[in-house]
Amino acid sequence: MTTTVTFLGHGTFLVETNGTHVLIDPFLTDNPVASTTAEEVPADVIILTHGHGDHVGDVIAVAQRTGAMVIANFEIVEWLSGQGVENTHPLHIGGQHAFEWGTVKLTIAHHGSMLPDGSCGGNPAGVLLKLSDGTIYHAADTGLFYDMKLIGETGIDLAIVPIGDNFTMGPDDALKAVQLIEPKRVIPDHYDTWPLIAQDAGAWAERVRAETSAEPLVMAPGDSCELN
Ligand code: NI
Ligand code: MN
Repeated sequence: MTTTVTFLGHGTFLVETNGTHVLIDPFLTDNPVASTTAEEVPADVIILTHGHGDHVGDVIAVAQRTGAMVIANFEIVEWLSGQGVENTHPLHIGGQHAFEWGTVKLTIAHHGSMLPDGSCGGNPAGVLLKLSDGTIYHAADTGLFYDMKLIGETGIDLAIVPIGDNFTMGPDDALKAVQLIEPKRVIPDHYDTWPLIAQDAGAWAERVRAETSAEPLVMAPGDSCELN
């Protein structure tokens, strides 16, 4: 029983757990650093954290090609059904649901969630994935919040935190986030996609090593790691 996590660039991740492909925030076509395409990426399940275009970009195309079930907040699921995507499962913040392949819980995130056509995308979320071999917390787009400590108390094997600044936490707040979450390992994301969110991830990783108990994992788009 193993889980492999692949970084596809920006905030997009593919989690393959016991043969089920869980695609988080599919943004590939307009993503200058994407390591794969909307035509090729596998998906049995798609999870959306919020409605911004750099997270929902390819969801309709991938959902229609693969028939994957899309898990998102209620408002985004309603929007998807209006776009012809019917295989969906609505969740909302604080709620979790056990699927055959693992349990998904939405957490708070401090951000926006308007959909690309201006529709209301509800509130933004982070994602907690409880899988057969460990727990992943994808903080998604967010500012720093102290309740990350509460999320961390569930025991996080792998955290994914944004470091790009401007739209999300920057390196200093992301370091504080790691101190609150106390994951075993942490992957930085949402940086270097465009010049506005360029960051020195290697320098941040050195600070994580020196100032937290977590092992940093800097991934280039296309890189994979085992969850445990
Ligand atoms: Ni966003
Ligand atoms: Mn974003």
